[in-house]
Amino acid sequence: MAKSDPSWSEVDDYIVQQLIGDDPVQDACLAANARAGLPAIDVSPAQGRMLELLARGVRAQQILEIGTLGGYSAIWLARALPDDGHLVSLELEPKYAAMARSNIERAGLADKVEIMVGEAVGSLAALEANEVLRFDFIFVDADKENYSIYLDYAVRLSRPGAMVVFDNVVREGGLIDPASSDPKVPGTRELYNALQNHPRVDATAIQTVGSKKWDGFLLGIVRDD
Ligand code: SAH
Ligand code: DHB
Ligand code: MG
Repeated sequence: MAKSDPSWSEVDDYIVQQLIGDDPVQDACLAANARAGLPAIDVSPAQGRMLELLARGVRAQQILEIGTLGGYSAIWLARALPDDGHLVSLELEPKYAAMARSNIERAGLADKVEIMVGEAVGSLAALEANEVLRFDFIFVDADKENYSIYLDYAVRLSRPGAMVVFDNVVREGGLIDPASSDPKVPGTRELYNALQNHPRVDATAIQTVGSKKWDGFLLGIVRDD
C-alpha cells in the first residue's frame, strides 16, 4: 500500500481554507524558519489548530511543550492561553530556540512564553525541583527515544485532569513493523508499553494523514488518584 497520497494534502488545503483561514503570523514563522534552514517538521496547520482547541478545551493556564523547533506549535498553543496563562517550551538547539523567540515575539506572545534551552530531561528536572508549576496541558514532540521518560515527567508535573499529547506515534506504520529500521520506533513502542494498563493515564491514539506524512497523535488524560 502506498504510504503517501497527494489527495491527503489537497484535503488538508480544503480544511485550512474552510476552518482556519489566512494566518500571516504563522506564514511568517514558517517562512523565517525555512530561510534559516530549520527542518520542516512542524505540525501541520490543521494539527496546530487542533492543539490550540484541545488546550482551550481543558481551560489550560499552564502549558508545557517538549520540542520547540522554530515555535510554530508553540504559537498555536500560546493562542489557547488566557491573559495570565503561560507556556514553557523546551528545546535542545540554541539556534532553534532563538528562531522560536523571534517568531513568538512577532506573534505578540512573548510575555506568555518561556523557552528553556538544553536537554529536555535537564529542564524537566529543574521544573520538578521548582514545584510551583502544575501543567494543564503537555505536548511532547522532541526526541522519540525519550518518550516514556517524558511521559513519567508529564504525569509528575501535571495537575489531575491534565491532557497529554504526543506527536509522531505512528511513523508511517513503522510502529507495528517488526522490520522497521526507523531508529525512532523503539522509543515510541516503549511509550505504548508504558501506557498499557498505566495506573494514572487513560490514553488513545489517532492516526493522521494530510500535508505531512502518515503519522499520529497519542492523547492521554492524567487521572486524579
Ligand atoms: N513542536 C515543533 C516541532 C518539534 S521538532 C512544531 O510542531 O513546531 C522536534 C524538536 O525537538 C527539534 O527542534 C529538536 O531539536 C528538539 N529536540 C530533540 N531532542 C531534544 C532533547 N533531548 N531535548 C530537547 N529538545 C530536543
Ligand atoms: C521528525 C520529528 C517530528 O517531530 C515530526 O513531526 C516529523 C519528523 C523527525 O525527526 O524525523
Ligand atoms: Mg512532531
